[in-house]
Amino acid sequence: MNIEVNKLNKEFHLFNEHISYVFRVLEKCNQLEHLYYGKKINHRNSFNHLIEREVRPACNMFEGDHTTSLEHIKQEYPSFGTTDYRYPAHTITQANGSKITNFQYEDYRIIPGKPKLNGLPATYVENKEEATTLEIILIDTLLKIRLILSYTIYTHRNVICRSARFINESNKSLFINNALSASVDFPDNEFEMIHLSGAWARETHIEKKKLSRGIQGIYSTRGSSSHIHNPFIALKRLDATEHTGDVFGFSLVYSGNFLAQAEVDTYDVTRVSIGINPFLFKWKLKPNETFQTPECIMVYSEEGLNGMSQTYHELYSKRLVRGIWRDKSRPILINNWEATYFDFNEEKILDIAYQAKELGVELFVLDDGWFGQRNSDNSSLGDWFADKKKLPNGINGLSKNIEELGMSFGLWFEPEMICKDTSLFTKHPDWIIATPHRNTSHGRNQFVLDFSRPEVIDYIFSSMDKIISNSKISYIKWDMNRYITEAYSINLPADQQGEFYHRYILGVYELYERLIQKYPHILFESCAGGGGRFDPGMLFYSPQVWTSDNTDAVERLKIQYGSSLIYPLNSIGSHVSSVPNHQVGRITPLETRARVSFFGTFGYELDVTKISDSEKKEIREQILFFKKYRQLFHNGDFYRLLSPFSSNEVSWMSVSKDKKQAIVGYYKILAKPNDKYYRIKLKGLNPDTLYSIKEKGTMHYGDELMNVGISLNENYTNRALEYWQKEKPGDFSSILLVLTEGKDYLPN
Ligand code: DGJ
Repeated sequence: MNIEVNKLNKEFHLFNEHISYVFRVLEKCNQLEHLYYGKKINHRNSFNHLIEREVRPACNMFEGDHTTSLEHIKQEYPSFGTTDYRYPAHTITQANGSKITNFQYEDYRIIPGKPKLNGLPATYVENKEEATTLEIILIDTLLKIRLILSYTIYTHRNVICRSARFINESNKSLFINNALSASVDFPDNEFEMIHLSGAWARETHIEKKKLSRGIQGIYSTRGSSSHIHNPFIALKRLDATEHTGDVFGFSLVYSGNFLAQAEVDTYDVTRVSIGINPFLFKWKLKPNETFQTPECIMVYSEEGLNGMSQTYHELYSKRLVRGIWRDKSRPILINNWEATYFDFNEEKILDIAYQAKELGVELFVLDDGWFGQRNSDNSSLGDWFADKKKLPNGINGLSKNIEELGMSFGLWFEPEMICKDTSLFTKHPDWIIATPHRNTSHGRNQFVLDFSRPEVIDYIFSSMDKIISNSKISYIKWDMNRYITEAYSINLPADQQGEFYHRYILGVYELYERLIQKYPHILFESCAGGGGRFDPGMLFYSPQVWTSDNTDAVERLKIQYGSSLIYPLNSIGSHVSSVPNHQVGRITPLETRARVSFFGTFGYELDVTKISDSEKKEIREQILFFKKYRQLFHNGDFYRLLSPFSSNEVSWMSVSKDKKQAIVGYYKILAKPNDKYYRIKLKGLNPDTLYSIKEKGTMHYGDELMNVGISLNENYTNRALEYWQKEKPGDFSSILLVLTEGKDYLPN
């Protein structure tokens, strides 16, 4: 049991061996006061001494009392309008127009394990001992609404999951204008806020700024979590580093419009708020209906940012990702997109597949362009039947041919989209998202289907089902290439238009769920023009995500490094592509491209029928190498060593759980003349294990590798060499080191 309740003082203490989270019920107003979140503290029969009160000039709730001002009390799920002026966790508009609520503590219940979240993606447990859930039941007796705050603490993970649900027990409808997943008040503002920011082709760049008074935050209004911001923020203590010190992570399991922010008030209290973006949100809660918020995953780390990342990696890969692919080796794939774009036929595809199979690739993925008359990006989305001009034997015939080559077959869809030249549009022009009598904007010449409508989902399910059930498909890439504009559903009444964005994403989740239930063997890879919807919500349905359309190795260092803040390596889609790179025109060595891609799902996206024999040889070796170490890359503990955001060098490593093996990737972006000695200090090794390093032909104890570091210079034994005679690595060079316990690789 990880929850202690001090019944007399109405205090709740969630804890495990690493974390404590304490709150209480306020005596007079019966609302919840937050007392502590951080490193584990001993339980006491009373935490009264943690209460902070000061008489301040303020509005107070009760006459004759000058300290019950909610503005000066740290809270759990704050409301606006009754003495707190900061950003609230919820807002409800009632039948008479009032927005004042008063949710008072009624009861609590402790549930072994973790209940499911209805219709929403969420982390889970496999047995009840893995976690304990505390539900706090609050009631607004005037409105007859119950509010259930849910807190799940994992027994052996530094994780607390929070969500809220509103139950309308009255006979009147009301409107929820804001229902966040979590709100946490920290007693001070000595933090930096970290988040991931970007755009198409340059996703997940790490941003840091010291907190200052006022609100600093990120959000999405685009209908998906977006390339621009990831639904995540972390508060890092000012003295915390990549590997030491306190960090608090907040990651939202949601793929639609979100808000994540930190508000520092005038007394330096920091309020973190995270959940569905209240902007444009308005949910009509009818009598007897329930509204469930998405969940926020809060991670506390006393081992810096890397400690936080490792907790997210382990939780998300083992208790968010589901199904057979959670524990199965992810296939090395080849995708034809950058090899052919729309210009292919069956013969070309089979040529690529044949050659890829010969190189050792395990899965062939046919990308965009196989359906309708899709020869460019202005046609055919929605007509999900094979283009017989390109593929005379259809997807059925092609997939069988590819299986006969000894590879699995995967297929691209963009289920949420429609082009106007389709039979689907001719039949159902009203299925696109559009506001009546207004212009409808396009994105990449396409329009978005109204996924808030069940009949649209039924139709897309049945058209995908036809293709899947007739073919041998073991992988689906689900793409989504534009954001939502002119948001409106002709299916919803005027007073429910504020539900549109949330209903849209619930529709996306529903289609995923139906496909997964019918085809549990299929590996889904989610994609949204690259990483436009790389979020924990998606991971519940698709174990891997195409991280970015940018396949340049140097750009990928930043994108993959940033993604690794939250997402495990086996979810980070990464391919080796051709040079000059199609997004930036850069020419990087094939060796470096693979060494970056190894630290992700790993695959290829180039025309292998057009490469030289020496490149084929190199690729064969890369694939053999990856097959040998796939488990280590995908299931090891990941450590970031040198950041691409602050230096010319980048390094990271993966260490096996038993610490007997590790792989280090080191990348130097620009070559430098007459340079210093280079050395990196490794992490996560066993200090007393003697590791051999095949590439260097040397052996070192773990403590030496972690404290002295490992030299990255060439070991020149020929003293007669002059500087101009020695080999220069050139720009974009890389080193890969495999550390193995024992003497395997040592020369005799
Ligand atoms: C965007 C994706 O990110 C690419 O990988 C590719 O699938 C294209 N869409 C196809 O249109």
